[in-house]
Amino acid sequence: MAETGNVQAKIPIADGNNDDQAKDEQPSPQKKIRALVLSGFGGLKSVKIMERLEPTVGKEEVLIRVKASGMNFIDLMVRQGVINNLPKTPFVMGFECAGKVEAVGEEVTELQVGDSVAALTEYKAWAELTNVPAKFVYKLPTGMSFQDATALLMSFVIAQILLFDIGNIRKGQSVLVHSVGGGVGQAVAQLCKTVPDVIVIGTASRHKHESIKDSVTHVIDHDSDYVQEVKKLSQDGVDLVLDCLCGDDTNKGYSLLKPLGRYVLYGTSNVVSGETKSFFTFAKSWWQVDKISPMRLFDENKSLTGFHLRHLLYQQGQDKYVRQVVNTVFELWSNGKIKPVIDSTWAFEDVSEAMQKLHDRKNIGKIILDPSMEPKSKQQANAGKDKETTDEKAVAGNRETEKVNKEYESSSSSSAK
Ligand SMILES: NC(=O)c1ccc[n+]([C@@H]2O[C@H](COP(=O)([O-])OP(=O)(O)OC[C@H]3O[C@@H](n4cnc5c(N)ncnc54)[C@H](OP(=O)(O)O)[C@@H]3O)[C@@H](O)[C@H]2O)c1
Repeated sequence: MAETGNVQAKIPIADGNNDDQAKDEQPSPQKKIRALVLSGFGGLKSVKIMERLEPTVGKEEVLIRVKASGMNFIDLMVRQGVINNLPKTPFVMGFECAGKVEAVGEEVTELQVGDSVAALTEYKAWAELTNVPAKFVYKLPTGMSFQDATALLMSFVIAQILLFDIGNIRKGQSVLVHSVGGGVGQAVAQLCKTVPDVIVIGTASRHKHESIKDSVTHVIDHDSDYVQEVKKLSQDGVDLVLDCLCGDDTNKGYSLLKPLGRYVLYGTSNVVSGETKSFFTFAKSWWQVDKISPMRLFDENKSLTGFHLRHLLYQQGQDKYVRQVVNTVFELWSNGKIKPVIDSTWAFEDVSEAMQKLHDRKNIGKIILDPSMEPKSKQQANAGKDKETTDEKAVAGNRETEKVNKEYESSSSSSAK
């Protein structure tokens, strides 16, 4: 395979044996796919486009030819190594994708080769081909594109659960939601419109306000004194706080609850303060959270809850419940009630730039990776500028990639034992 970006094609080593018959008897080389591999926890450069052996399908699995993969905020956190229970690097990143079923395991009955599907994966979604247990794969409704499916799946499933199953939002109530311009935030804003007279107060960076103002009732700059701003809009506070930030925002969110109000923590974006992990920010975010006793909740008539989709699916076995929610979301889409908001689509080769956009708070809606998309031809623009330096960098990059390949192979062979 030709090299693209920092792809490292594995070149067979010549062994000097010219015996044609011996060559014929050698097994044909296993096919390769391209994937985005996290080579070590850290900055943007830790994500590398590499070749991997084609995955095979297990008896309860489906093999998906990926057409689009979702990039979520959690991918930044995985890259930095700031979440629990991370696998050992190197591994293929990504938690959701959509594509065509290429093979099904012998025990899979609900899906067939050729079906268009979306999947919530436990890693491995940022690859050309991926194998996923069938219980986490969902057949797409007629007419839904792979891009829409990817933009819709995780964000709207979370928003649906937060608002209705946990938040119990009802006619005329009010919601405070942070990062309202992002993937989940825009899903929350749209789903609120399916209930009459719900007031949505969103926080977002100021530069997004003009673009998203019609999706919410009020938009506030997160960096302003937003507690006062919310109180100006509603003296008593709000019925539901959806907090994906944590840290001091948890205390502020709790303080803004009306009697019988519900606070849901579903993210910890505040632990990310730059390209790489900051132990200080990480620790501060946890220390800042007030420890609230059930006695205080009892006295104040407030509820505190939390939600974590991947834990629900992969550790707590609630795949049937999540499938019902996916069906509800797909039905809302089929009835024209919701429409995924896509910020931008990127080639695998441009993954760093896409991640940088998330870090820079510039996305409105979802960022998508498309394995078949042509990369931005930066190399062409720079061609001839400083050939020698480029060559040196390429050699160093190839050495690094080769090292990661070796680590991956030794970790795969040891986990297979
Ligand atoms: N519990 C679950 O199962 C679950 C699943 C998926 C996602 N989540 C959480 O939901 C939240 C939103 O996820 P998403 O994938 O839709 O991402 P997203 O909202 O599209 O993420 C990007 C946006 O986050 C905001 N942001 C807040 N803190 C930030 C920081 N430290 N660095 C950079 N941007 C920051 C920025 O918007 P503004 O500057 O406009 O605020 C930025 O544009 C995240 O906290 C994520 O972890 C939870």
